[in-house]
Amino acid sequence: MDTGVVIVAAGSGKRMGAGRNKLWLPLAGKPILSHTVHLFATHPEIAEVVLVVSERDEADVQDWLQEEPFAVKITRGGAERQDSVRLGLAALSDSCSYVLVHDAARPFVTKEQISGIIRQVRRDQATIMAVPVKDTIKVVDATGVVESTPARESLWAVQTPQAFRLSLLREAHQAAVQSGRLGTDDAMLVEWLGYPVTVMPGHYENIKITTPDDLWLGEEILRRRKGE
Ligand code: CTP
Ligand code: MG
Repeated sequence: MDTGVVIVAAGSGKRMGAGRNKLWLPLAGKPILSHTVHLFATHPEIAEVVLVVSERDEADVQDWLQEEPFAVKITRGGAERQDSVRLGLAALSDSCSYVLVHDAARPFVTKEQISGIIRQVRRDQATIMAVPVKDTIKVVDATGVVESTPARESLWAVQTPQAFRLSLLREAHQAAVQSGRLGTDDAMLVEWLGYPVTVMPGHYENIKITTPDDLWLGEEILRRRKGE
């Protein structure tokens, strides 16, 4: 067991507008954060869990974890998601050869998918979960005029977990700090190093809970899974 996970939970959930971090909102009676941490902390192939939280949430997270039977290492995040991931990577033990990075706001990834990405990262060293886009995507300029329409077959919507050899992702984050670049996901930083990143087909249900409408969709996903 040489795979760890960094779960980033240090955002503020502005778009949810709940007045506090959206990760405390309940899904089937349990905080979103609890669903996500549970999945990884009880996964037989995950050796270590680092949970990245904001200063504001730290005490509440400590309290909640005291009631849980599993071990989770808590560390403080930063202003941007990229900062939170970098700080999480620093807290992970060097004994981990591979790391998964996951958004706490994605509680619907399955144990099978986690096992799948762990298998694939051993082969590829950098691999991300993604789904083919269903909509036609346009590139639009600042004045609202369409510039181009990329071929849909080549477009994938990227999710987490994203998985990497730990040394590779640490190097990519260090290089991004040095060049002052901010990526929108972790794979992008690895791409900047010129390293190939492979895609593992994910599931459309692995949504990121972002706005209030995602909450009822999430409840529906859980209700249907329970009935299965
Ligand atoms: N995140 C983080 N540190 C930050 C920003 C975000 O750890 N500085 C985490 C969030 O807690 C979330 C994940 O990154 O689990 C994906 O971010 P997002 O869905 O955008 O969450 P928030 O940034 O909290 O929401 P918003 O952008 O609406 O404020
Ligand atoms: Mg955000």
